[in-house]
Amino acid sequence: MKILLCGGAGYIGSHMAKYLASFGHRVVVLDNLSTGHQKAVLWGELIEADLLDSASLERVFRGQHFDAVMHFCARSLVGESMQQPYAYYANNVVGTLHLLDAMQRHGVECLVFSSTAAVYGQPTSALIDEDHPTAPINPYGASKLMVERMLADAAHAYGLRSVALRYFNAAGASPDGEIGEAHTPETHLIPNVLRAALGTGPALKVFGDDYPTPDGTCVRDYVHVDDLAQAHELALAYMDANDGAHVFNLGNGCGFSVREVISAAQQVTGRAIPHELAPRRAGDPAVLVAASAKARNALGWRPQYTELAPIIASAWRWHGDPRF
Ligand code: UFG
Repeated sequence: MKILLCGGAGYIGSHMAKYLASFGHRVVVLDNLSTGHQKAVLWGELIEADLLDSASLERVFRGQHFDAVMHFCARSLVGESMQQPYAYYANNVVGTLHLLDAMQRHGVECLVFSSTAAVYGQPTSALIDEDHPTAPINPYGASKLMVERMLADAAHAYGLRSVALRYFNAAGASPDGEIGEAHTPETHLIPNVLRAALGTGPALKVFGDDYPTPDGTCVRDYVHVDDLAQAHELALAYMDANDGAHVFNLGNGCGFSVREVISAAQQVTGRAIPHELAPRRAGDPAVLVAASAKARNALGWRPQYTELAPIIASAWRWHGDPRF
């Protein structure tokens, strides 16, 4: 298949490109390089374009036909979204609307969309399945939920087939160290822990230890980026057989607190992780852990990284020798 990867120069998008290429798919990357890296585009043509610029989007779709689109472009930082909500609604909602409109006009009928656990807000059960109420507590989650609603409406009105994948905490890197997670500034826990271990970043700030969790720090479900890629590839086959708009959680079903991540990283790296307590970060729910049975049963998803240590180890290889 020929697949347009919007945001294919970013962290998850670049791992997706590598994964698709390994299955013989043809990949075209659309990215505005605002947070993505040209050097991460190793498996297909890069078209520099912005979803907010309808004219350049039109040129992309007029020039060639795609069998499906995978849409990773987004602002995706919970904390930043609390400070800059308009940027999140513009990029994530308006940008996606432009993309959907271009797809419809050019007869592209299949979309895999990067959604998020942040649509659930403050969960009311230990394990979150897809029937859990959606009540985002930050603009990032709200913007993704708005797009999910757009996809449901587009299925009814225009016959768009879509799969929205609600990622829990994407982590890790390609095991060969070719590509990895490189954000500027870096706000995610595992990269910040590893940078603290290497001394290439400051001491880790632990954002709050008074949450209602066993050790008081926030609990998250870490899922390897290549396992996310696997689910996207499976979603292509799923859309072949199923019309409509579908939603799946992607997580391992195991929660780890910030303190547990620090101690796992200490074991993996053999180094001390300098860290200090800091105030809570606005917009953070206490616990987010996925029930992903639906993805396993319907998509046939089989995550390969079910333990935290190998996820951290893959990230550690990348952070020790980043190529971009
Ligand atoms: N944390 C720290 N110190 C840091 C960085 C993070 O204590 O330097 C804490 C956070 O407060 C949070 C946890 O570690 O409790 C994980 O934080 P991340 O920033 O790594 O990830 P988030 O849970 O905030 O968000 C990530 C993605 C979102 C997605 C969410 C879903 O960035 O896009 O996972 O679970 F919505």
